[in-house]
Amino acid sequence: KQVDLSIGELQKNGYDHFMLKEIFEQPNTIEQSFKGRIKTDNSDIVLGGLHNVMPKLKEARRLIIIGCGTSWHAGLVGEYLFEEYCRIPVEVEYASEFRYRNPIIDEDDVVIAISQSGETADTLAAVKLAKERGATVLGICNVVGSSIPRETDGGVYIHAGVEIGVASTKAFTAQVTILTMMAALLGKEKGRLSVEDYRVIIQELSEVPEKIKTILQSTDHIRKVADKYKDAVNALYLGRGALFPVALEGALKLKEVSYLHAEGYAAAEMKHGPIALVDDNLPVVVVAAKDRYYEKVVSNIQEVKARKGNIIAVVSEGDTQLDKMCDDIFEIPRSHPAVAPLLTIIPLQLFAYYVAILRGTDVDQPRNLAKSVTVE
Ligand code: G6P
Repeated sequence: KQVDLSIGELQKNGYDHFMLKEIFEQPNTIEQSFKGRIKTDNSDIVLGGLHNVMPKLKEARRLIIIGCGTSWHAGLVGEYLFEEYCRIPVEVEYASEFRYRNPIIDEDDVVIAISQSGETADTLAAVKLAKERGATVLGICNVVGSSIPRETDGGVYIHAGVEIGVASTKAFTAQVTILTMMAALLGKEKGRLSVEDYRVIIQELSEVPEKIKTILQSTDHIRKVADKYKDAVNALYLGRGALFPVALEGALKLKEVSYLHAEGYAAAEMKHGPIALVDDNLPVVVVAAKDRYYEKVVSNIQEVKARKGNIIAVVSEGDTQLDKMCDDIFEIPRSHPAVAPLLTIIPLQLFAYYVAILRGTDVDQPRNLAKSVTVE
């Protein structure tokens, strides 16, 4: 009997969609992004592409991270990490804004361009501008030999493999993995991060792939929750600290693939506007892993519950307090805050995927979107 499979079907490797395949690849792609870069005894990080620019990075007055879409969200996670571990001022900008607003940059600045494709027109133009103004420019890209890495003074490839789903998943977690390694390494080099804390972060990173495998076992549960909320009109995503950009990215995933309107907000900003939307029809997704913001996030959840909003929370394993308080929870294994963005985004990617499937949209090729935006 002849089996008729197109190349596309073969590449999906048994998964229904590229997006799902790529979500499931993440334990492997994250490992690829740190493989050979973290010493096997977890004692040190080696990033060859930064070797020549390390003196410049250590002396940099400021880091400016630029990107678009999901890559910009990865940059926002990077901001928290660099500030926390390196005590260096960081700005994160949309490449499109940066390039047109006559930015104040000079040779004391290091610009980090994040781009999966390495071809995004605005990011490439921003890189060229930063170079012209004398800044050192680094790239965090996936596609080897693409335009951005060719223009930069150094950088790190994420090694996530080809990403086909238009909504970025595995590239995001690989970008964040690289930023975590860079922040830990630079923090150690600058003497801002103790060797002990540095090794804790490396150890935690090395455990991320196994922890993601655990989260990936909960697809049935996530699908059921998605079914409950699939007919919502709006959704609000909240987080604090480095989990605020995770809320933004979770909202973007839902918007991109399910066409459901979703907004990400810094949790405390809710009272300055979005709380007006809360009623019993509004799902509010809260990224609430245990970290130093936890108690504050719990108060935000209470504010939503008091107005009859439905809470779906991403929580640390064994969180009985939020289990009781929330309508639905997605658990992630306990971890150090440095790697929480990598873990908390996984259930949100799956949630977006299942909502989209249940609404019947084309998740791999959402309407009006392109994988790579090479024109303005
Ligand atoms: C497009 C894609 C997004 C991506 C963004 C930036 O909008 O649909 O998934 O995040 O471009 O792309 P880049 O290749 O620069 O990361």
